[in-house]
Amino acid sequence: MIELRVSYRDKDDVLLEDSLESKNPHELFSIWFKKASERGDVRQPNAACLATATKSGIPSARFVLLKAFGESGYTFYTNSESRKGREIEENPIAAMTIYWDPMDRSVRIEGAVEKISESESTEYFDTRPKSSQIGAHVSRQSTVIASRESLSELNKKLEIEYADKRVPRPSYWNGYRIIPKTMEFWQGQSDRLHDRIVFERAENAAEKQIASHAGENGWVFYRLSP
Ligand SMILES: Cc1cc2nc3c(=O)[nH]c(=O)nc-3n(C[C@H](O)[C@H](O)[C@H](O)COP(=O)(O)O)c2cc1C
Repeated sequence: MIELRVSYRDKDDVLLEDSLESKNPHELFSIWFKKASERGDVRQPNAACLATATKSGIPSARFVLLKAFGESGYTFYTNSESRKGREIEENPIAAMTIYWDPMDRSVRIEGAVEKISESESTEYFDTRPKSSQIGAHVSRQSTVIASRESLSELNKKLEIEYADKRVPRPSYWNGYRIIPKTMEFWQGQSDRLHDRIVFERAENAAEKQIASHAGENGWVFYRLSP
């Protein structure tokens, strides 16, 4: 048994419905993300755990880096032939969770996943460091390889090949965006009465007859028991 107990925040510093910094979840995410980025003690505030599943419901989860977010979705980049890429192809829904430990805050996002346009993926690929661009060509992500050496050799070969050339985006390297259906904002409290505020599209909440508060832009929100 691992015995670890951490204390969270002051009991007066709670997340209340009336004092949410925004009633639009994308704006609230942006405010929380900015705080996480500016404090200096969250090394990768955009590291997010992404869960996908096969069509028959076998789940898998891994970290990715969130590269853009807002009304149009929560974007990450990956290899379409990887395990996650294949799972998204056969079952285009996903869940993503971010945890900012020093802030005692977490956000959960769930929704449909879309591949972004080729031109958007290329635009982002072109901004990446050359070593990462070459890495995308070297790695057939999630396939079994004989050794690390085989990767290094291919990497060296491609470094020479592309020394004076632009590295093109491999067709299997793409961006995906999750279009949130729900977004949950979690804040840890020392008394363990953690705050959980869930935003959901108004039409979905109405269908489920959930008692909710009016949010902005077609969203409603409600509190869940911790
Ligand atoms: C902090 C962190 C960030 C990562 N970011 C990405 C990413 O943006 N895209 C990606 O394809 N893999 C990323 N990875 C690697 C993945 O977690 C994973 O090993 C890889 O994508 C293969 O996953 P899969 O076999 O389930 O498809 C990251 C790993 C960590 C720990």
